[in-house]
Amino acid sequence: MRVNCRAIAGTLAMVVIFSSPASAKRAPDKVTVTVDTSAQGAQINRNIYGQFSEHLGRGIYEGIWVGEDSNIPNIRGYRKDVVDALRKIRVPVLRWPGGCFADQYDWRDGIGPRDKRPVRINFNWGGVPETNTFGTHEFLNFAELIGADAYISGNMGSLTPHDMAQWLEYMTSAEKSSLTEERRKNGRKEPWHVKFFGIGNEVWGCGGAMRAEYAADTTSRYSAFLSDPPGETFVRVASGPTGNLPGYESFTETFMRDSGGFQALSLHYYSRTSPSTRATGFGEEKWAQLLRSALNIESIISKVAAIMDKYDPDKKVALFVDEWGAWHKEELGTNPGFAYQQSTLLDAEVAALTLNIFHRHTDRVKMANIAQMINVIQAMILTRKEKMLLTPTYHVFDMYSPFQGAVPFDVRISAPEYQYGDEHLPSVDASAGIGKDGKLYLALVNLDPVNSASVSTNLSGIAHGTILTGQAMDTHNTFEAPNIIHPMPFASNNVGGKVAFDLPAKSVAVVVVE
Ligand code: AHR
Repeated sequence: MRVNCRAIAGTLAMVVIFSSPASAKRAPDKVTVTVDTSAQGAQINRNIYGQFSEHLGRGIYEGIWVGEDSNIPNIRGYRKDVVDALRKIRVPVLRWPGGCFADQYDWRDGIGPRDKRPVRINFNWGGVPETNTFGTHEFLNFAELIGADAYISGNMGSLTPHDMAQWLEYMTSAEKSSLTEERRKNGRKEPWHVKFFGIGNEVWGCGGAMRAEYAADTTSRYSAFLSDPPGETFVRVASGPTGNLPGYESFTETFMRDSGGFQALSLHYYSRTSPSTRATGFGEEKWAQLLRSALNIESIISKVAAIMDKYDPDKKVALFVDEWGAWHKEELGTNPGFAYQQSTLLDAEVAALTLNIFHRHTDRVKMANIAQMINVIQAMILTRKEKMLLTPTYHVFDMYSPFQGAVPFDVRISAPEYQYGDEHLPSVDASAGIGKDGKLYLALVNLDPVNSASVSTNLSGIAHGTILTGQAMDTHNTFEAPNIIHPMPFASNNVGGKVAFDLPAKSVAVVVVE
């Protein structure tokens, strides 16, 4: 049985007396990280490093697709700089076409000659024309190009089970039928492998404003019409609750008790501050609030998982956190419907903390998709015409890539609190695991934006890797200066034969212990 490390960390946390604001600088915090290599969790499914791309703002158009005739260097219409960057972080799975857009999307609009495709209004996101230039073929070929598995979100909100089943047949059947002949005529002879299929999105909201009971029945009904291609199976994903609204427990309960025909239940959760403020130019209050919001996903996952355990003790149904990320107010001067925001060191901390939490819940969490891959919400990549930059969140995904497929260990942390205003947070968080290469990896996050930590561990050897940090809490890359924040070399300074670190304030580090 796994130990609840967060609880232990909380219990062991030293009491720190703050008579002045937490932003006062003091001697480095003394932190102890104990990695219990005898207590292993279930393997980290590499799909928790998944991505999400919706027809929203410049997520698809310009972010991925520029067209074959563009001056921007491209591979069959996909921008080359983006393809190269995504290949580097080994994106395991990509969810498309939404989000809310999925439940207004008719897949037939996005097949056939591009100049003949209908133009629709994207009423979910800015009310702008959707040209349908990027459709089923463009998406599935893109997923193949970057080496990611495809996760398609079907429309349960405004189309019929018949439409959903036909889309699946069009994409995945190797048989000869009118639909598969149409696919061949449109340029794709062999079927694609669609590993994951979502039955609706946010059924309680933009996906149809359904009550849990109705959504549970409707999910079973749609699922009944989806058949696996011969010799293959795909994972049906039921659209589950959001941790951002009250009632997610009862929603989960209803689905697990009353619905069927799915192998995964989705959970959405966005880290936010109230009121929502912009991604840059903030003070320590926002820093502390957003990190608190990010940490809250742990208790939400625990509660949802406990309900799933009640109905599914053998853990046959996975939990997919298929939308998560830090959602700020849109960048000044941009369309509010486009959800474009900068991405800073604070967002990198949100990413690292959330990935650490997923590592602690690998028995249930088998996929997660950060929202969203390019130019939308907590993006990996931002583009402006021919320019492109990698965000601090991209760097976290890159640094954490040895954890894809790793086996996690329990980690106990004894650390003082980081306190600001009403927020009381652990000052340091950590995750450890044995990678597929047999090496021990350790990730460390210093949540304190002012004070460094003197970290001692029970690990022997030496540790080296990279660290992401910056002068300011909102350190970020710009199109003019795209390399302000990037991973820098980082190594242990051993004490008494054990691996130890001077961990700077507001930093994320990943090291290999050898
Ligand atoms: O990611 C942006 C939106 O957030 C998605 O379309 C929707 O599912 C969620 O509310």
